[in-house]
Amino acid sequence: MEEKTTLEQVIALHPEINHIEVRPEDNRRQVKSFVLRGQKLGTRQLEALRDSFDEYAIKWTGTRTDIGSLFPVRRPVVIEIGFGMGESTIRIAKEHPDLNFLGIEVFLFGFSKLLYRIADADLDNLRIMRFDAKDVLQVMVPDGSVRGFHIFFPDPWPKKRHHNRRLIQPQFASLLASKLEKGGYIYTVTDWEEYAQQMLDVLSATPGLTNRFDGYADHVPWRPETGFERKGLEQNHEIRELWFEKR
Ligand SMILES: C[S@@+](CC[C@H](N)C(=O)[O-])C[C@H]1O[C@@H](n2cnc3c(N)ncnc32)[C@H](O)[C@@H]1O
Repeated sequence: MEEKTTLEQVIALHPEINHIEVRPEDNRRQVKSFVLRGQKLGTRQLEALRDSFDEYAIKWTGTRTDIGSLFPVRRPVVIEIGFGMGESTIRIAKEHPDLNFLGIEVFLFGFSKLLYRIADADLDNLRIMRFDAKDVLQVMVPDGSVRGFHIFFPDPWPKKRHHNRRLIQPQFASLLASKLEKGGYIYTVTDWEEYAQQMLDVLSATPGLTNRFDGYADHVPWRPETGFERKGLEQNHEIRELWFEKR
């Protein structure tokens, strides 16, 4: 009988999978927008990491990289930050074959699940990275090279003392804006009212960005419901969407 693949074997084969856990000392001082949730991986997830990481995951290059060249076919690139389980990510990619999608997520359970779905469908327009999106944007992504950003239900960090962990803050918003091509967009959604207001304030004040709507955006019909959206709706939270563009 074939022996079961273990996470240790997979990491030995592709050490980058574990980068987030063993990140360099200087990086530890940065405030993180996530906490790592450990969840035991199933056989298909482990096998996907073993067999499909090389083909469908993007590796850290540590330097400015032509992100268009990371896909089998060159198309405009949309980056999704924090795709969670990736259910809506794969649907959007399948329904938009004219675009390339780069999903960035640190949560290994969701990352490996999306990896086997991409491999099963042999999609050529969706690739994923298990990395801190801030590092990817700061180091790898050239300015003016991204068609759009999708940030769906970023962690709300509700306690005041944790607000500095929220992704959408002035510095990060400027970083996003600098990476957008002219006419590119930032599309973000939250069920957390006070964070929605913060996003609206921060994005409105970010030089170079314009709100396509007067305040919150209309619901974007091609966005499928996400896992965290379902949780929010179960708690009767209102969903707020924001759509900003680079002038
Ligand atoms: C609340 S979940 C939302 C997941 C999904 N978008 C959804 O709507 O179901 C936020 C996700 O963002 C990820 N995340 C937070 N900060 C991140 C970062 N700096 N880089 C990559 N992923 C990040 C977390 O691991 C988490 O899975």
